[in-house]
Parts: sequence; C-alpha cells; structure tokens
Amino acid sequence: MEMPTRNKQRINRSRRSWEQIRKEFPVLSQSVNDHPLAYLDNAASSQMPQQVVDKLVWYHTGNHSNVHRGVHTLSQRATDAYDGARKRVAEFINAPHERECIFVRGTTEGINLVAHGFGHKFVGEGDTIVVSALEHHSNIVPWQMLCEQKGANLEVIPMNDAGELVLDELDEMLDDSVKLVGVNHVSNALGTVNPVEEIIERAHSRDIPVLVDGAQAIPHMPVDVQQLGADFYVFSGHKMCGPTGIGVLWGRSELLEEMDPYQGGGDMILSVTWEGSKYNDVPHKFEAGTPSIAAAVALGEAVDYLDEIGMERIAEREAELLEMATERIEELGGVRPVGTAEHKASVLSFMIEGVHPHDVGTILDSEGVAIRAGHHCAQPVMDRLGIAATARASLAFYNNERDIDRLVAGIYSVKEIFGV
Ligand code: ALA
Repeated sequence: MEMPTRNKQRINRSRRSWEQIRKEFPVLSQSVNDHPLAYLDNAASSQMPQQVVDKLVWYHTGNHSNVHRGVHTLSQRATDAYDGARKRVAEFINAPHERECIFVRGTTEGINLVAHGFGHKFVGEGDTIVVSALEHHSNIVPWQMLCEQKGANLEVIPMNDAGELVLDELDEMLDDSVKLVGVNHVSNALGTVNPVEEIIERAHSRDIPVLVDGAQAIPHMPVDVQQLGADFYVFSGHKMCGPTGIGVLWGRSELLEEMDPYQGGGDMILSVTWEGSKYNDVPHKFEAGTPSIAAAVALGEAVDYLDEIGMERIAEREAELLEMATERIEELGGVRPVGTAEHKASVLSFMIEGVHPHDVGTILDSEGVAIRAGHHCAQPVMDRLGIAATARASLAFYNNERDIDRLVAGIYSVKEIFGV
C-alpha cells in the first residue's frame, strides 16, 4: 500500500543531513567578534530552530489568551495549544498519563516543588535525603533548605576521580530514615551519565522514591520514564531547543495526588470560601496562576522537532562529536580533560595548565567560540576534584566538525598567549 504523502514527507525530513539541520537554527549563522559563531555552551542553554520561533510567533500573533478561564474562541485556542503541548511532552517521555506532567519554570522550580510538596509532608526530624556528589546546586540547595527546616540530614553518594558515582555503600546508606533519593541523569559539570536505573532499583527495593534531574539528559538521549522507573523526572525547555521559562516535572500520580500544592492561587483550586479552599486535580493543583503559555506551546513544538530528527540519531551524532572533541583536545599537550567517566554525554570539561578557565573562556569568545567557564553551579563537584573551576565545551546535535576545529584552534591561541 502506498504510504500517505504526509508520512513520506516526515520520513524525508527526518533523514535530512546535519548540515541542513544546522541551517534551521538562525542564531548559529551570525558572526561574533568578527568570527563565525561556534556555539559550544549548550549545557547552559541550547538554541531554538526556526520552527520553534515560528510557533511562538504563531501563538502571539493570532492565538494568545489565558488558559482554562474563558469561553471565548481565543481562550479556547490557547487552552487547546497549552494542553496539546502537555500531551506531546507526555508522549515524548512515555509518561503513563499526561496529567502527570506539570509545567514549571524549569528544572530548578520542579525540584523545589518536590522538596516543598513531598518534603514538607513526608520528611521529618531525623529523616534523610540522599543526593549524589555530582549534583547541580538546584538538586542540593532545596534539600538543604528542607533538611534545615525539618531537622533532617542530607547524605551524599560519593564519586571517584573520574567523576563516576561509587555505589559500593549505597545499600548501607539506604536505611529506614531515607525518604527520597535525588540524582542527576547526566552531570552538567562533567557529562557523566549516571547509572540511574541501578540507583532506582536499589532505592525501590527499600520503597524509597527517586527524583531524577534530567535537565542534561533529555536533550541528548531517548528518555522513557516508565522504563527508567523513576518517581519524579524533571527537565527544562531551554536546554532542549525550547524557550526559557518552561520546564516539566513528571511525577507518579500516586505521589502527586498525595503531595501538597507548592503555591496557592488561580487555577489550582476547585473552590474557595473564607472557611478554606478545595484544591484542583493534578496537574492543575501544582500550576497556580497564569502559566508560561507561549513557552509551553513552543516546548511542544521543540519536542516535535526533536522527535522528527529522532533522539537515537541525536545521541549517536553527539557521541561521535564528543569522541572527536575529546581526542583532539587530548592531543594538545597541557590540556587536561576533567571528568573521564566511561559513560559520558555531550560535555567536555577541561583545564589548561597554568591558565584560569575564565581566561580560556574570554580568549575563546574573542575568536567567536562560546563555552562556559566556572564552577557550573556544581561547586561540590569542583571541591571534590580539588579545583575551583573548569572550562566547559558542551555539544548539541547541530554542532559540527568545524566547531570542534575552532575550539581546538582557540585553545591553541590560549596556549600561545600564555606561553604554556
Ligand atoms: N545548569 C546550566 C549549566 O550547566 C546553567 O550551565
């Protein structure tokens, strides 16, 4: 039977070359400091393809109104687009129910929501929250705040010098006092892909729920929350070709139903009287106030865009680029990769002997190469490795061999300037 034309077009589009795909990102075709831009700061924030920008324009130029509040046509259109985005996101991560996907501002807000909604209800004095040594501050500070308020303890799964978690003592750590384990899927500072399935399995064997910070995983690999078995999975739109100000907290219905709301206000209630308020159902219970409607709609489009290319294909391409960049950098004397885990995704942190990472970042920028330098909001990772900061190049599927050449050439300039 002849395939419908729309499906044929989809398959043809999904097979377009990486060069074609790169051209779909308008921001990448500019010059910065008189050099063509080589954008290698994707772990901080990725770029948006024209298709996603167009969706924002579509929304704002003809379809904007408030959601879940109006009987008029524009409100209905906005509501359909917003709810449709939730459906797309749920499909993307294979969530069992779309209502389990809560729109938040980003990963940080998602984790704070759980620390508040779950933590305040289920964590008490003497209880323990376990996180890993590889966490971003956003998966440390909310738990420290909770522990301080509740008189609970924060314990840390250690890591080795390569930046891999050491799980040898995990079983002993997971005693009856532990109420939740929080771990990132991929480390933003070092790129380590953590064995989250194993951590989840071990925690679940003791009935301990697990929150996975997926901010650095979801743009780089297929994520199936049912297969992972996590209880909460959190990610940000702006790291996956979507806009800022939107992210997703996926949680198991049973837990979300039990949790208290994070904020009070419009849309999160069924009724309000002076005697008290009755909360709305999940997910609305956790979405007080007018949400970031346009950003959510655009995130739905970003998901379509990524899906069309294919997350498997993206993972393969980025693995190739990461391997190439790592080899090229190792060939340069005096450059030390930081974070040499066996399983890595997208991130290449490094130090140049005798040069502060900020100087590396500044010189690279003068050549149009954008990287991040600093502690990457992961100061405990830096402390563990006995360093203050790294230079970090982080890749996306739209990067190419030329970007890596430019990175290498930039590092060469740094070495020449500093005479190292
Ligand atoms: N978490 C972001 C990063 O790693 C901002 O750069």
